[in-house]
Amino acid sequence: MKTTNNTILITGGATGIGLELAKQFIAQNNTVIICGRREEKLSEAKKILPNLITKKCNISDLKQRQDLFNFCIDNYPNINVLINNAGIQREINFLKGEQNYLNGDNEVSINLDACFHLTALFIPHFLKQREASIINVSSGLGLVPLIITPIYSATKAALHSFSISLRKQLLETNIQVFEIIPPIVDTDLDRGARDKRGQTDKGISAEKVAKESIEAISNNKFEIPIGIVKVLRIGSRISPKLFLKIINKKSRFGN
Ligand SMILES: NC(=O)c1ccc[n+]([C@@H]2O[C@H](COP(=O)([O-])OP(=O)(O)OC[C@H]3O[C@@H](n4cnc5c(N)ncnc54)[C@H](OP(=O)(O)O)[C@@H]3O)[C@@H](O)[C@H]2O)c1
Repeated sequence: MKTTNNTILITGGATGIGLELAKQFIAQNNTVIICGRREEKLSEAKKILPNLITKKCNISDLKQRQDLFNFCIDNYPNINVLINNAGIQREINFLKGEQNYLNGDNEVSINLDACFHLTALFIPHFLKQREASIINVSSGLGLVPLIITPIYSATKAALHSFSISLRKQLLETNIQVFEIIPPIVDTDLDRGARDKRGQTDKGISAEKVAKESIEAISNNKFEIPIGIVKVLRIGSRISPKLFLKIINKKSRFGN
């Protein structure tokens, strides 16, 4: 994919990996639209990047997704890149009978439904562009689950699978499908829970993730394992039990 002169929507682009992608894509002369739920985070991002276009949107809501799509194509008809980046992560213990996983904003609607729906909305528009791309941000935990975040890990495994199918379905078209697979990244994703469980490994910077991703995208590498995920991807195929243990070693499921 050419990485200049695109018009790009990044869901959840006001913080973390999304914000870094926004910064680096703007630096390469792209028009970038971001969305998120928190107005103050959108404003902070706009202060850092005055050219950024922001739109308040909760992507777990079907109507708001449709409005976001309409906003993009009505105001920025050249839009040709969708980055499905927004995500949340929760610890859920089924043994404790936690059944509230589908209440309110939840991982299935944000990490998955929204990606499927936005993809379906944008494809007809993208088919009319000269070049277009859909870029999904999954996770190393989609390859090997973190057992204390079972639904999060399952949504990322599903997004990985979806990316493979979508890439094949769109193979003969002008739309390319990329998947960024980050390791632990130092962002606010589930920071509270990470701190509570005493996780000392804060991970690599979002800046590094964005840089490696854009470089790979520019070289048409469609599946993009970042940092240590390169090892995880191969290792988990050769020795799945060992890598399940390694990923979960600090939790009570590590044995
Ligand atoms: N950090 C890691 O270790 C790591 C590792 C692998 C993969 N990832 C993936 O990377 C992506 C970005 O996460 P991050 O690490 O950069 O964390 P982050 O800073 O928390 O970013 C997530 C963004 O998603 C937005 N978001 C969440 N729910 C939303 C909703 N319903 N509607 C619209 N926006 C929503 C958040 O904004 P609002 O709260 O304002 O809506 C936030 O800006 C996620 O898909 C995550 O799963 C992260």
